[in-house]
Amino acid sequence: MILITGATGLTGSAVVREFVRRGRPARALVRNPDKARALTAVSGVEVVQGDLLVPDTLAPALEGIDTVVLISSADNRMVEAQCTLIDAAVAAGVGRIVKVSGLGPDLSSPFRFGRYHAQVEQYLQAAGVGWTLLRPSQFMQTYYREAPTMLADGTFAQPLGDTRLAPVDVQDVAEIAYATATGDGHASKTFEITGPQALTMTEICEVLSSVVGKPIRYVDIAPEEKRKRLLDAGIPPRFADDLDDLFRLRRNGGPESRVDIKVFEQLGLRPTSFAEFAERSAAVFQGTSEPEQLWASGWQNADVSVQGSGSGV
Ligand SMILES: NC(=O)c1ccc[n+]([C@@H]2O[C@H](COP(=O)([O-])OP(=O)(O)OC[C@H]3O[C@@H](n4cnc5c(N)ncnc54)[C@H](OP(=O)(O)O)[C@@H]3O)[C@@H](O)[C@H]2O)c1
Repeated sequence: MILITGATGLTGSAVVREFVRRGRPARALVRNPDKARALTAVSGVEVVQGDLLVPDTLAPALEGIDTVVLISSADNRMVEAQCTLIDAAVAAGVGRIVKVSGLGPDLSSPFRFGRYHAQVEQYLQAAGVGWTLLRPSQFMQTYYREAPTMLADGTFAQPLGDTRLAPVDVQDVAEIAYATATGDGHASKTFEITGPQALTMTEICEVLSSVVGKPIRYVDIAPEEKRKRLLDAGIPPRFADDLDDLFRLRRNGGPESRVDIKVFEQLGLRPTSFAEFAERSAAVFQGTSEPEQLWASGWQNADVSVQGSGSGV
């Protein structure tokens, strides 16, 4: 049996849906029963309540589990939460942990979550349990956050200059998580995952203009201006600082600017293009439908009201 953590979040819920689509039973770890209602109704998904920060809740969730797909929020306690799960999995005799990380994890990264993912990856590799690392690029779904501003004034303001980014569709990450968690030969492997094209923000705007049906213009703003807009939109200062770090990293180019789709080729999968993703999500970009998720749950839990404006983590 496979345990999927973070099952109520953007990536975890996509992984659960992929198991359902494939008709493969899975167990979903959920800390908030109210959020689990949609999952309990799905056949083939066994929902267990547990908190990654509370070891006592993890032993029952890990009973009979061979493989864990480890996902949790990019929040202040991410390292503690994921390392607690790793310890509990080792104690429970789990065979392998497939960790959803991020692209460019580095203990000296200027981006806090780049450092956090590096810490967890190192901890996992030394823990005495099998491991597989999935390192996705920026998610295409983060562009949902721009929809309100794009629709209001036809602009898409980012402090990204002419940088190219190769965002990946979360649905593709879920397919890769499914394949590497259920298939053989993926232990002790690290998979970098990007989308199939590295696009400038102007090119992203061309796609979005065609989907929205009106011109969307990229405006290259200063990082300081972007930070101010994030704060004005209700993003907590700590996370506005994180996004500021990330934008500065991306502005200078980096791993997310390069296309790396080897994992798709190895697994016989086809990466979704940004245009395909945008067409599938047309209702969200046109403002007629709510996205499944706008901001990571760690941010929502920060007890602030967060509206559109800004993309990043
Ligand atoms: N956004 C990007 O562009 C991007 C790109 C590459 C990698 N990543 C990485 O991908 C990962 C997943 O991101 P996401 O956007 O899918 O996150 P998300 O939507 O915030 O989902 C996180 C999930 O983790 C759960 N969780 C958090 N703390 C928990 C705890 N203590 N116990 C049990 N469950 C807990 C949340 O539960 P609740 O619903 O109860 O809060 C939620 O289900 C992150 O590590 C992020 O760094 C993100």
